[in-house]
Amino acid sequence: MAEIGQNIDFAKRLLESNDLVGIPTETVYGLAGNALSIEAILKIYKVKNRPSFDPLITHADTIEKIQGIVDDIPETAQKLIETLWPGPLTLLLPKAKHVPEVLTSGLPRIAVRIPKHPLTIQLLQQLDFPLAAPSANPFGYVSPTNAHHVDDQLGFKIKYILNGGPCPIGLESTIVGFEEGRTVLYRLGGIPLESIEKIVGRVELKLNQSSDPTAPGMLRSHYAPGPQVIISDLSKLKFNQEDAVISYSTDYNHQNQVILSPRASLDEAAKNIFSALRQFDNDNIRRIYVELVPEVSLGRAINDRIRRAAYK
Ligand code: TXA
Ligand code: MG
Repeated sequence: MAEIGQNIDFAKRLLESNDLVGIPTETVYGLAGNALSIEAILKIYKVKNRPSFDPLITHADTIEKIQGIVDDIPETAQKLIETLWPGPLTLLLPKAKHVPEVLTSGLPRIAVRIPKHPLTIQLLQQLDFPLAAPSANPFGYVSPTNAHHVDDQLGFKIKYILNGGPCPIGLESTIVGFEEGRTVLYRLGGIPLESIEKIVGRVELKLNQSSDPTAPGMLRSHYAPGPQVIISDLSKLKFNQEDAVISYSTDYNHQNQVILSPRASLDEAAKNIFSALRQFDNDNIRRIYVELVPEVSLGRAINDRIRRAAYK
């Protein structure tokens, strides 16, 4: 198992020798390595068991460092950056030439963001390279929202996990890019669609729903735990011992039940959805019945993840 702690110097030394470290962000935990080192990048793909066609997100603590790895920041991107960074927004921008091709799976754009977590910001401040960090889970599984989730699945492959406590948002960042002047949203996430539209006007949705592995972005079946996930109207069902129930705010009086937010807060539900799916991924459970949440604000991203978990 990995060591778990808050030793930023140790994390820094490991990263400087091309080792990988689990890092907290406001969204989910990341599996971090030097974004400019081919050796470290290849390790990330290997540890995650991630196909090489699925590119990584790069993290830095300042706009200046981001400017060092992109070719251009269009005006619309600038507007989003001013309001939403640091925070759960990832931008696809033209990649600078010196950035290794393996980082972006050969694509012309690089995914970048400034995360909002004090420990990881401190770490980034002390490094003279940005960090590539996909979510710290094996490819295709639910993202980790605390240090122990990372340890459970990747602890035998990495030496250290920086412990920043439970992730305050609990869903991955929203991914946005620009195509011929249009603003395009590729992944629903921690910044609601509505907040982005308030800043830049109309946004086109291109949520990758395909299972075509040659299309980069999100594969349709993702975030999947072991038991079958079934989206249902929970008020109409009778549950047995091997069933688990994940409700939004209603108490269905079942023993294997997680209520995502008893006070019906989408923020709170977002924080809890991935750990709920993990909790019921055990041999005693055969089916996880989940209800969708209101399809607004963070609810869109929560429902997106529930649908992907349920997709076979
Ligand atoms: O909140 C987050 O974004 C977390 C934390 C750790 O920052 N990271 C994360 O990374 O969710 P990951 O690798 O699990 O998801 C990144 C997504 C993938 O679906 C990938 O295909 C897409 O971003 N992506 C990355 N670079 C891309 C690029 N150049 N073009 C298109 N899609 C890209
Ligand atoms: Mg991921």
